[in-house]
Amino acid sequence: MLTAGPAGCGGSDDDPHGGGGSAGGNEGGRGGEGGIGNEGGSGNEGGSGNEGGGDEGGGGSDAPTPIDQLALTPPMGFNNWNAFGCSVNEELIKETADFFVESGLKDLGYTYVNIDDCWALRERGADGKLVPDPEKFPNGIKGLADYVHGQGLKLGIYGDAGTKTCAGYPGSLGHEQIDAQTWAAWGVDYLKYDNCYNESDGSQEDYIRRYTAMRDALDEAGGNIVYSICEWGQSRPWEWAVGVGNLWRTTGDISDNWSSLRSIIATNVRLAQYAAPGHWNDPDMLEIGNGGMSLTEYRTHMGMWAMMAAPLIIGTDLRTASAETLSILSNKEIIAIDQDPLGKQATVVADHDGLMVLSKPLADGKRAIALYNSTDSLAVISVPATDAGLAEAEVYQLDDVWTGHSVHSKGILVAGVPAHGTAVYRVSPAPAPGTLAPALSVGAALGTLISGHPEGATLTTEVKNQGISDAAGVKVDVTAPEGWGVVAENPSSSALLGSDASLGTTWTIHVPEGTLAGRYTILVTTTYSGGDGGEISLSSEIVSVVVAAPRDGATHLSKLYPFSSENAVGPVELDASNGNEAPGDGNLITLGGQVYTRGLGTHAASEIVYYLGGRCSTLTTDVGIDDEVGEGGSASFTVHADDAVVAESGPMTGADGAKTLTADVTGATWLRLVAAPGDAGAGDHADWASPVLVCGGSSEPTTPEQTLFSFESGTEGWGIANADTGGTVSRSSLFHTDGDHGLEVVAPTDGNWYGRALDEPLDLSAYTTFKFDVKTGETGTSGEIALQVGEGDSWCQGGLWTWTNASSSKTIRESISGIECPHGVALDLTRVTGIWVYLKGGTFHIDNLRAE
Ligand code: GAL
Repeated sequence: MLTAGPAGCGGSDDDPHGGGGSAGGNEGGRGGEGGIGNEGGSGNEGGSGNEGGGDEGGGGSDAPTPIDQLALTPPMGFNNWNAFGCSVNEELIKETADFFVESGLKDLGYTYVNIDDCWALRERGADGKLVPDPEKFPNGIKGLADYVHGQGLKLGIYGDAGTKTCAGYPGSLGHEQIDAQTWAAWGVDYLKYDNCYNESDGSQEDYIRRYTAMRDALDEAGGNIVYSICEWGQSRPWEWAVGVGNLWRTTGDISDNWSSLRSIIATNVRLAQYAAPGHWNDPDMLEIGNGGMSLTEYRTHMGMWAMMAAPLIIGTDLRTASAETLSILSNKEIIAIDQDPLGKQATVVADHDGLMVLSKPLADGKRAIALYNSTDSLAVISVPATDAGLAEAEVYQLDDVWTGHSVHSKGILVAGVPAHGTAVYRVSPAPAPGTLAPALSVGAALGTLISGHPEGATLTTEVKNQGISDAAGVKVDVTAPEGWGVVAENPSSSALLGSDASLGTTWTIHVPEGTLAGRYTILVTTTYSGGDGGEISLSSEIVSVVVAAPRDGATHLSKLYPFSSENAVGPVELDASNGNEAPGDGNLITLGGQVYTRGLGTHAASEIVYYLGGRCSTLTTDVGIDDEVGEGGSASFTVHADDAVVAESGPMTGADGAKTLTADVTGATWLRLVAAPGDAGAGDHADWASPVLVCGGSSEPTTPEQTLFSFESGTEGWGIANADTGGTVSRSSLFHTDGDHGLEVVAPTDGNWYGRALDEPLDLSAYTTFKFDVKTGETGTSGEIALQVGEGDSWCQGGLWTWTNASSSKTIRESISGIECPHGVALDLTRVTGIWVYLKGGTFHIDNLRAE
């Protein structure tokens, strides 16, 4: 019999928001992409620190500072939430404070070291005061504040304008005075005040009342506490919070992915008129360094936050941060733009097709200009300088904040900007243009890259001289991944490129046979010189998509890499419905009561394109509006094979359940799935449920799947690993993703393992992934998979999923590479002796444990 079972899951005990594990259901998350050329520190010196940030040292002892004298520049610091969730403690805060000092971040202006949710005990003390968790903060918050002040830094804390914090700790609604006094007595310098469990009627008046109550309490308690209003932009705080808070969140929570970043920028960028010294729009804390975005995207994050005069609150583990992360966070020129004493947020001066130009007036009379490319391809962005608020001049000087180069341009502000990238310049009329090299813009257009295609794809590059003098020794180079062919079909260099002249080059790129479909980076490097300076090197990154023709047989579309995929809200979800912003936040697709474990979860308007290479014959799919939006949503579904419509659903609403479409795609090169919004307005979740593509004349599944347990005949021998710690298993028809039944598991708070030892060892070596479907009403962490490969403690296990939405469903997956064995045990998949899943604290419905 098993006694201990595998040890705990590694997450913190009471951490429903996360801090460990991956978001379930999301495959193919992007890792950090490789670096691009524009590396390196800033050229010019002269970053301002956190000027005018209130009294030094903090501590609530001096006379209160009027609110508008606090945070005269956007606050800079650290908060643990984005990287650690609830796992906060004294050690982390102290080590981060130490790091600020040792790394020089403090000298750059990073001042506040802030604690987020989960610092208190679950109950107030007998005196009605909040009590710091003594295990997490053995010296109390007061002791920690003393330490942080001793480092010349300031300490921030977190509270909530509701009955509970978001993680369920005591809220401050109705306790404003006592809590403000407690924080002031501890020497707290900064309060982030959240909005969970707010008991609100949703009116702006109610928001004003709740947030002003804490403002008044902070004043009474002695002031000097920077007040960060965190109500997610719900009541349009920019309209009322001047004089109440020093900063206010303008959006929901940021997450560490491009679609979140893009959507937050789109909202916050429109609010420029409301920001000024003492009160700032807060588009949320930084995700730089957390791994979910490329360096180009993280530079956009930092650059756009600076342009938007946003608080710079670092949200990564600084103690393990990479050199690239630290170089982005400590770019002096960017920080100086953020902290410019004029305190203006940049305004949008041009915005076309995802290409945006922002202009921020600076105290020295110059302007910071950002050219922001939110599209998926490299683009040349330009705007007449006078449109960006610059005084009329023939020639302008552009100081590139990321590369340190200074160049001149003739009347316009222009640059080739990579997909998701942002060029940031300090600009002024050029006093001595002759000494500066001309600006060259680098544009590129790339055809379709097909794995193994004999003719290859065409890349065109165009370099244009945007200045008034010659560029000398212009040379363009293209670097593709190892093993690819790159051939220039005409000259790629020019001894002298005069004003307005262009160098256009056509290249052929061959992608070798066998290259996996996916994203790859091609780098265009342009070197030249001009003026009095040395050589300038411009790196233009092209993120390209390689497509490969589908394999023979029947393939689930969720397994095929798309050429492109566009969606109105968040990313298209794989094998789940559309959640909202973050990848992996959907539920299992459900149409008319039927649950599908496969499919694509979109939100109309949406379009997904696949390369078929003329090899396929039919697509069969169910379509419909997911049950989770009720009967309200509406959309229509169309399947296109090249230019022809080959199947269509007509208008559908949530009341229609599922419709089956069968499309003849014979001979087509491209398959396009389009969901168009219906009349019922926003809120549709338009599902392509179980879409199967048949190619190459065979209808055998390309990825065979074996169901190991489906619970049709009962509990199929499933039991509890540690019987003494409790739980129950029974067969249930409440949630099932195959047949009519699944399993209901009631799990104790501390969790338990459910499953069985096998009578005969199973050979599962043909498979690479294990998965099961779950529905639960609980939030928290759950869902590890263990494969037993011998007796006793020979459990190899992997995964841990965070559930943030009560009542949600997912397919939990774990790939072999994510399963780890105890020391000395090898994962021998030819002899699996037991299969278990870990569930924690609540009632779960599970079904369909399978190997693929
Ligand atoms: C959210 C807030 C997050 C974090 C979290 C803590 O409401 O927006 O930034 O503070 O609560 O539970």
